[in-house]
Amino acid sequence: MRLPPFRIERWYERFEFTTELMLSSSDCETISVGELLALEPDAGERLLALRLGYTEVPGSEELRSAIAGLYDETGPEAVVALAAAEEGVFAVETALLGPGDHAVVETPCYESALAVARSTGADVSTWERRYEDGWRHDLDELERLLRPDTRLVYVNTPHNPTGQSMPRDVLERVVELCAERGAVLFCDEVYRELEHDPALRLPAACDLYERAVSLGSVSKTYGLPGLRTGWIACRDAALRDAVVAAKLYTTICSSAPSELLAAVALRNRAGIVERNRTLVLRNLELADAFVERHAGVVDWVPPDASPIGFPRLRVGDTRAFCERLALEAGVLLLPGDVYDEPGHVRLGLGRVGAAEAFERLRAFLAAA
Ligand SMILES: Cc1ncc(COP(=O)(O)O)c(C=O)c1O
Repeated sequence: MRLPPFRIERWYERFEFTTELMLSSSDCETISVGELLALEPDAGERLLALRLGYTEVPGSEELRSAIAGLYDETGPEAVVALAAAEEGVFAVETALLGPGDHAVVETPCYESALAVARSTGADVSTWERRYEDGWRHDLDELERLLRPDTRLVYVNTPHNPTGQSMPRDVLERVVELCAERGAVLFCDEVYRELEHDPALRLPAACDLYERAVSLGSVSKTYGLPGLRTGWIACRDAALRDAVVAAKLYTTICSSAPSELLAAVALRNRAGIVERNRTLVLRNLELADAFVERHAGVVDWVPPDASPIGFPRLRVGDTRAFCERLALEAGVLLLPGDVYDEPGHVRLGLGRVGAAEAFERLRAFLAAA
């Protein structure tokens, strides 16, 4: 297995902790351990009394029950806790794909979804969405790409980097197409519950189809990436067991303090989500005003979910522009070349400080 450089994460490794204002992050503003523990009366005591032995391989009963609260048809027994969604991408794709297998991956996408699938030796087709088509999902194209023995289809909704939800009829058709072939639907739902209008929320894929694997995380919608806690939910026991087998080679089991804290967060997620959604909506107004004011330079299909959006920015070399913006103005964007979309940049709207960041971006553009 050979993996290419993870361009998205290399960018953040270089800039995230040395740049003042985050204007591209895909996670929402976080909270402290103290704030999290204050959400339940006995949580602090329970954390202090927690013993730090190995934990149960699929995750504690407490955490899996809290996770199952996100689903209608999928119970705690169908959940496997993981060290964040990143471990899920790795475990699912390495467990289910290998030479001779065929997979389809929606693009542009979070880089590991494509890179890990390719690294297994599987034959990987990309289901491409294009800005010129308004990032539309072309179902005819998906049907052309699918083969009778396609093993896995990866989709992501709400979507990184466009910040858009898949239309419900598209998801239903994707499920149908997978079911006809017995393909696993690997649905990355790490931005679920951060629809700008909650009415847009789709059913989780694991509730719709037995052979769907829903991928979740506390990193994004709930703003807790430092817990490194994610999960897969899947009603097919053999698929789950394949993921557990892979997990035994990566982390074996989850971090005990993180399991406890993630369970507290998920049981109390309504308040956390509302706080984050309010912040995203406020920052989205700033983003809309920015796009309107700079109509000759920037345009986009506005996001309807998640804290991110993916405008086109006509400034020449967007990587060089983003580097200069970070170093000279202290504002971090993400250049679209990390998604093989070099004309775009990723905006992040889930953090405080966006007003100042947009003001510095405006001044930087004016001076350029
Ligand atoms: C679509 C998507 N999937 C998975 C991940 C990994 O998230 P984490 O490992 O922090 O849970 C990310 C992070 O940016 C993402 O955007």
